[in-house]
Amino acid sequence: MRLRGILGGKGNPSNLDPLSILIGVGRRAEALRARRTKDKRFTNARSRLKRANFPLKVNVGCGNEPFKDWINLDLSPEARADILWDVTDGLPFPDDSCAFIYSDTFWSISQSKKACGSLQNAVDPCN
Ligand SMILES: C[S@@+](CC[C@H](N)C(=O)[O-])C[C@H]1O[C@@H](n2cnc3c(N)ncnc32)[C@H](O)[C@@H]1O
Repeated sequence: MRLRGILGGKGNPSNLDPLSILIGVGRRAEALRARRTKDKRFTNARSRLKRANFPLKVNVGCGNEPFKDWINLDLSPEARADILWDVTDGLPFPDDSCAFIYSDTFWSISQSKKACGSLQNAVDPCN
């Protein structure tokens, strides 16, 4: 059963060739690596938040223009971000924890569609 899952086939014996096995194992390894990276980013984000003032002020896609006393977030390791994060994965903050979410020259349509729900949840409507 497990082998079938790795191979991605439906139990067809023709899928049992070495190349299919290698491709299946490679995909699994890649997915595991991606999940570990996300988990590590999430842990780092949580630890950074312990030193933050709530409600948060968040600058999404800060690039090299971080704001003082804000949580600056960016996808790129080259950016001067406090938190390395891809907002299409949502936000690493609790609901209603943000007073402001700001973004300058960041959004593409596909990214905004993916990210908007979690940005909305993170903003406290009372702030
Ligand atoms: C054009 S730069 C703008 C930088 C800065 N806000 C400014 O106005 O100078 C866009 C930034 O958004 C970041 N970015 C793009 N997609 C992102 C994503 N999905 N999550 C977080 N940051 C992202 C890029 O890495 C880049 O630093």
